[in-house]
Amino acid sequence: MIICKTKSEIRALMTQWRQEGQTIGAVPTMGALHEGHLSLIDVAARECDRVVASVFVNPLQFAPHEDFDAYPRDLESDGAMLSGRGCQALFAPERVSLFPADFSTNISVAGVGENHCAIARPHFFDGVATIVAKLLLILRPDVAVFGEKDFQQLAVIRRMVRDLDVDVRILGGPTVREADGLAMSSRNQYLSADERAIAPALFRTIRQAGERVSAPGAKWSEIGAWATGEILAAGFTSVDYVDFVDAATLEMIDQAGPEGRILTAARLGETRLIDNIAVAPSQVD
Ligand code: PAJ
Repeated sequence: MIICKTKSEIRALMTQWRQEGQTIGAVPTMGALHEGHLSLIDVAARECDRVVASVFVNPLQFAPHEDFDAYPRDLESDGAMLSGRGCQALFAPERVSLFPADFSTNISVAGVGENHCAIARPHFFDGVATIVAKLLLILRPDVAVFGEKDFQQLAVIRRMVRDLDVDVRILGGPTVREADGLAMSSRNQYLSADERAIAPALFRTIRQAGERVSAPGAKWSEIGAWATGEILAAGFTSVDYVDFVDAATLEMIDQAGPEGRILTAARLGETRLIDNIAVAPSQVD
């Protein structure tokens, strides 16, 4: 696997691949890689001749009180995992090369970029949209793969790419979970043993909520309140939201339709966990 730390190196490699007629799949990450990230490498490899991953802890998407400094960084281990999975190139830029001191541009996606996670993290999706636009412009891949684990993020990226006519196909990969259902996340490392035992309650609860909301006549206003109570009763510190939305628009809905999605974020001690599930059309009357 070729590791490029500068924009000029990675651009030269991408140009070479394109000149060779190879299609390129990109997987942007912030590192601290786990099986969830690697599953996206597999998706990219199925779709394209070559796969490039990026590892960059993006300062724009962290608020000053959030965990930018504490975010786990281990480029050596990330590199070994990526090359073991057949990824052919890794772009791991320095902060200053992407964000010089006078960096002045912001990409903000209204609609799908509002509500849900944007309420507790008001600048988060601007930070994501801006870095992802930059990475797509630097790499110019044919395909870029993102996880459904961050469902609102995926919607924001799809909308940004459509609105700005970025010439790339965005693919979503399904959420990879631990055996007990907890969605894999780099932030799971922050959990104490006690918190780790509580954490699967988030997925368990939204799955049950999905079954309940599929029943004829069910109303989310009641089920959402029930789900919040369940998550707190399991030992979570607080619940940011448990929302039932239309999967395409992310607008709140109260009754199951053909494309429902339950989105949630809750805090366990200092750690904020997010998850989501599809409410399958087959469950809907
Ligand atoms: P990061 O949290 O490192 O995640 C990188 C990619 O892996 C994202 O597309 C995310 O949705 C996906 N992912 C994380 N956990 C997953 C899981 N359990 N199953 C499947 N996919 C999973 O998301 C980011 O980084 C950043 O916001 C980024 C898009 C790189 C922009 O900085």
